[in-house]
Amino acid sequence: MRLLKVLLVALFVCSLLSSTSFATNNRRLVQAGKKIFLSKNLGNCLACHDIAGINIPQAGAIGPQLKHTANYNASYLYDKIWNPHKYNPTSIMPPFGKNAILTKHQIKAVVAFLKTIK
Ligand code: HEC
Repeated sequence: MRLLKVLLVALFVCSLLSSTSFATNNRRLVQAGKKIFLSKNLGNCLACHDIAGINIPQAGAIGPQLKHTANYNASYLYDKIWNPHKYNPTSIMPPFGKNAILTKHQIKAVVAFLKTIK
């Protein structure tokens, strides 16, 4: 019985530790994604997109202002950034994954950032 209690406490502590490290990793991913979105030599997304609720100086308006992307399906966002033509054959948005402008990991980071836009 005592061993069971010890095991349960250990399990509880482990689950706490792993959930905090998930939160820290996710925060890092979101920060990396934001940087990619805003950097002219990385995603350069700001050249075409403003984001509702964030004041992005000199954001372009060729693409729609992104808003409520937290409600979008993460795999839609990933696919759209990987190859916008999948959903819109005449899109002028560059195919960031298909053309190797961004890596898979960088696109995942951008998606994590877009998932924070309420
Ligand atoms: C050259 C301009 C341009 C650049 C650069 C660009 N986009 Fe776009 N984007 C567009 C246009 C135009 C659309 C709307 C037409 C379409 O759906 O393809 C769009 C659509 C989107 C959509 C879909 C929005 C919706 O409501 O479904 C997302 C998400 C998006 N862009 C994210 C990004 C991200 C992230 C980057 C940077 C990695 C980026 N875009 C870079 C022009 C651009």
